[in-house]
Amino acid sequence: MTDIKIKVRNTRPEDIPELIALQARVYPGIPPWSRRKLREQLEVFPQGQIVAEGENGLVGCASSLIVLWDDWSESHSWKEITGAGTFDNHNPLGRTLYGAEVFVDPNLQGQGIGHFLYEGRRKLCRAMNLKRIIACGRLPGYRAYAHDMSAEFYAQKVVWGDLVDPVLSFQIKEGFSYCGVIENYIPEDLDSHGYASLIVWLNPEYHPERPVTIPEHIAL
Ligand SMILES: CC(C)(COP(=O)(O)OP(=O)(O)OC[C@H]1O[C@@H](n2cnc3c(N)ncnc32)[C@H](O)[C@@H]1OP(=O)(O)O)[C@@H](O)C(=O)NCCC(=O)NCCS
Repeated sequence: MTDIKIKVRNTRPEDIPELIALQARVYPGIPPWSRRKLREQLEVFPQGQIVAEGENGLVGCASSLIVLWDDWSESHSWKEITGAGTFDNHNPLGRTLYGAEVFVDPNLQGQGIGHFLYEGRRKLCRAMNLKRIIACGRLPGYRAYAHDMSAEFYAQKVVWGDLVDPVLSFQIKEGFSYCGVIENYIPEDLDSHGYASLIVWLNPEYHPERPVTIPEHIAL
């Protein structure tokens, strides 16, 4: 666990430039989100956008939208389900919190910040009475094994504990269940060969007879 004091809170419009700079450091080969897309995400679903803040600024981010999962469960890419990062598919009638992105400062990974962000997401899910969190996680460790095995077998080996993936191993530690692999999720993600693992966390406090509530402020 990190010695730095970390606060998890909702993202604010003034965080946008810092968030873009952080994302550019996390994924040097992929263009970061534009200011416009981040503003749109905040307009569409402000409660779903969270950051981790340390003493010297932002150190991580987790972005989510609500979806009607039946519309997407058969197949989808990251671009399709997130409206190319605008979150214009956000649907407050849905019961599934969809994790669109999570990242931590490369210098601070492995120190518990991702855990705090995932805990923030679980708090959102419980506070809104959503049924579950679903995400499709990159499989950045697959590149080293792609010549030897299928992405599905690689992911199974990670679930069995025989291989370690920087993202899927983290998500399993966070209590998510692995549901399979999807292809062409982010074709530009060369480390994952475009594959992603579909994962789910079920909200143990979900009440199907109660409505989804989206409070203006959620204590994170
Ligand atoms: C994936 C990511 C968000 C995880 O955040 P993090 O701050 O590094 O993770 P944490 O330190 O909170 O780890 C939480 C748990 O997962 C485990 N974990 C984290 N990274 C791991 C890894 N590479 N291998 C195995 N386990 C790992 C930790 O050991 C910890 O378990 P513990 O509590 O039993 O010690 C972060 O590494 C990251 O930003 N990666 C690059 C961006 C990315 O690919 N994001 C995923 C998009 S789908």
